[in-house]
Amino acid sequence: MNESFARVAGEIAREAGQFLKHFSDHHKLAVEHKGSGFDFVTNADRESQRLVQQRLKAAFPEHRFVGEEDGLSDAQVATLLGGGDWCWVCDPLDGTVNYIHHLGLYAVSVGLVRRGQSVAGAIYLPEWDELFTAQRGAGAFMNGQPIHASACQDLRQAFVTADIAASNPTLREPNLERLRRAGMAVGGLRVEGSACVCIAQTACGRQDAYWNQGLHAWDVAAGIVIAEEAGCRVTNIFSEPFSFDMADGFLCTAPGLDGAFRPHITRA
Ligand code: 2AM
Ligand code: CA
Repeated sequence: MNESFARVAGEIAREAGQFLKHFSDHHKLAVEHKGSGFDFVTNADRESQRLVQQRLKAAFPEHRFVGEEDGLSDAQVATLLGGGDWCWVCDPLDGTVNYIHHLGLYAVSVGLVRRGQSVAGAIYLPEWDELFTAQRGAGAFMNGQPIHASACQDLRQAFVTADIAASNPTLREPNLERLRRAGMAVGGLRVEGSACVCIAQTACGRQDAYWNQGLHAWDVAAGIVIAEEAGCRVTNIFSEPFSFDMADGFLCTAPGLDGAFRPHITRA
């Protein structure tokens, strides 16, 4: 595999993240409702996606691209990602609600997928200037230093994050029930509002697990390879292999918690 995929993804994610961090210096944030409920998009999301897409097109003109703001369904994206073409999958601003509220937990995610497998990617956290990168078989890194999942094996010591999928009325209630069950089992539980931030934090061992039943491919395309290369286990929340159709959600855990944590969230 072309060894520069992760490096270029990282450069582009960092550029877009710095753009987001300084967006309000030059622009007024325009917030729009996306569909119904608690789901928002801003001009910053759109501008960030435009930047990422332009840069990827220049670097890899033969590759495909899909971004959150293209508005494709999970099924359409899964079909695209199952094929033999290289396809870049971008969340130009993960944690939009946090960003709107000036909470620094947001990220840019740029992942490369082929035949249903996440093969390279980068997640950039602008407020911490932390760049997470990985390429399949070549390890995972933060700002160029190797990272590893935590050694946690005891659920009562585990620090876990999750999201509620607040904009999805059918998932909100079961996810709150999962939070309650998980909260009874683990040491610490947080809802942070950015899947990419939480996956990156799990990959580098600062936290021990993250799950969300209501994600899309762009939320995890980079995170999967980063987490797996760091030694995490990635599955859906019912333990079957993870799939980009996203129907059964996303779970990544430190390897020592694999099996022990999942039963607490499988049943809602
Ligand atoms: P986003 O900010 O890019 O929308 C918590 O809301 C986490 O779940 C965020 O990473 C958010 O990504 C993600 N998410 C994905 N789909 C969502 C949805 N429909 N509503 C709310 N959050 C969603
Ligand atoms: Ca987003």
